[in-house]
Formats: sequence, C-alpha cells, structure tokens
Amino acid sequence: MNDKNKSIHEFDFTLICEYFSSIERQGPGSPEVTLKALSFVDNLTSESRIADIGCGTGGQTMVLANHTAGHITGIDLFPTFIELFNANSENLNLGDRVNGVVGSMEHLPFRNEELDLIWAEGAIYNIGFERGLNKWRELLKPGGFIAVSEASWFTEERPGEIDAFWKDAYPEIDTISRKVRQMQKAGYIPMANFVLPENCWTEHFYAPQAAAQEKFLEKYAGNKTAEELVENQRHEADLYDQYKAFYGYVFFIGKKV
Ligand SMILES: C[S@@+](CC[C@H](N)C(=O)[O-])C[C@H]1O[C@@H](n2cnc3c(N)ncnc32)[C@H](O)[C@@H]1O
Repeated sequence: MNDKNKSIHEFDFTLICEYFSSIERQGPGSPEVTLKALSFVDNLTSESRIADIGCGTGGQTMVLANHTAGHITGIDLFPTFIELFNANSENLNLGDRVNGVVGSMEHLPFRNEELDLIWAEGAIYNIGFERGLNKWRELLKPGGFIAVSEASWFTEERPGEIDAFWKDAYPEIDTISRKVRQMQKAGYIPMANFVLPENCWTEHFYAPQAAAQEKFLEKYAGNKTAEELVENQRHEADLYDQYKAFYGYVFFIGKKV
C-alpha cells in the first residue's frame, strides 16, 4: 500500500485529533440530515436517555439537543473532542442535560435497557456495523431506537480503485439492502433508511477541511506526518468527487423489538 492510500487510522493520534478539532464535524452529515433521521424516532420525552456514540466535538449532538427534551450523553475516545463538546454544550446553555464523557464504544457506561435512543453518526464503523448493532442493543429499552450513519455501496459493482480503497479502509462496507438485513437480524425493525445528500460531504465536511488544511500545513511546515495526513484527506475528497455515484453515507434507523 502506498502512502497515498494510507488509512486514516494509521496516522498519529494527536495530530488527527488536532486536525479534526478545528472543524465543526468530524464526518459527513448536516443539521438537516440529523433532523430527518430524528423524524423517524418516536416517544421521546424530557425523561428520555439518549447516547451519542463517537460524538466527536458534538456538531450533531447539539442539533439533537435543540430538538429533543431528554438527557444526552456524548461518548468519544478522544479527550480533546470531549473538552470541545462540553464547551459547546455550555455555550449553548445545554450543560444541564448534554454531557460529554471520554470512553470507548466497546465498553459503554450504561445499564442494560437504560437508553431510549442510541445515536451514532459516522462512528459505528469503529466497532463494526453488525457488531455495534448487536452489542449496543442490550442497552436500549424495548421499543427504543437506534440511528446510525454508515458508509455503504449504492451498487452491486463498482470501479476497482474505489472498491480497493474502501475494502482497505473499512472491509465491512456493504450495500444498503444487506445493511438493512443485518439490522433486522440484530433484532431491530428497520424503520427507515436514506442516503445522505452530497452536500453532507462537500459543503459540511470537505469544504471546512480545505480551509483548515492551509492553517495546519502552515503550523506544521516540514512535518512529513502532517503533510501526509492532509494529502490523505485531499485524496479521499478527490475519490469522493470521482466515485460518488457508487458509495456514500446512509442513515439507518431501527427500533428494538
Ligand atoms: C468520523 S468521526 C464522527 C464524529 C461525529 N459523530 C460526526 O459525525 O461529526 C468518528 C468518531 O468516533 C470516535 N471514535 C473512534 N473510535 C472510538 C471508540 N472506540 N470509542 C468511542 N469513540 C470512538 C472518533 O474519535 C471520532 O470522533
């Protein structure tokens, strides 16, 4: 594998963290899409317990919080993201019901059947789609909801370059219909799924990065790792531009049976 195709996971933890801390979202998405996914979720009240797993700095969490009344816990592995998350929550006067904690999605700090809603935008891939759906299910109350966005293929076949890129980055990428089946098999009613529009990648993810990249490269002039990280992200954006007909993010909303 050449450097250009190096997976994001192979870069230095601290550098990645700094790079992504400078932008509002750490993955493709938008406020409109968060609200669309939320529109398929019923029965939330001021007593509801919600977890946003792999919350990052909380771009989508704050949108959720402004449209739900319950208590939201954001969980992320990166302490810097959680610091920014909690600062965002305080700035929006949401500190009494929106809290970020550092933790792993492998060992979540919730009791069985404690949660009404599990949210994870662009994050479940870290544990694996099927594994996450199965493992997190026990934390949901019966009738509780899960809403996750996940990289998915739009077609059965696709050009070799993009096939190879994703099979290296995330071998569990699969077609929408197979992901829906996996959700059903894990014990959820598949309530809805929809493809995230292109602007979730271009306007809300890659454009803010383009601005951040200039500053990052200035700060780390001559640092090979930083340069590679930026090159890697630019390559990913180019691939998206070229092959967006074949893949994208899809929101899957399920209800625990
Ligand atoms: C692509 S980002 C998505 C962030 C945010 N949900 C969004 O859409 O902007 C994936 C997030 O998962 C977090 N993450 C990765 N592995 C994790 C783990 N094992 N446990 C908790 N969070 C993790 C990363 O730190 C990162 O914030």
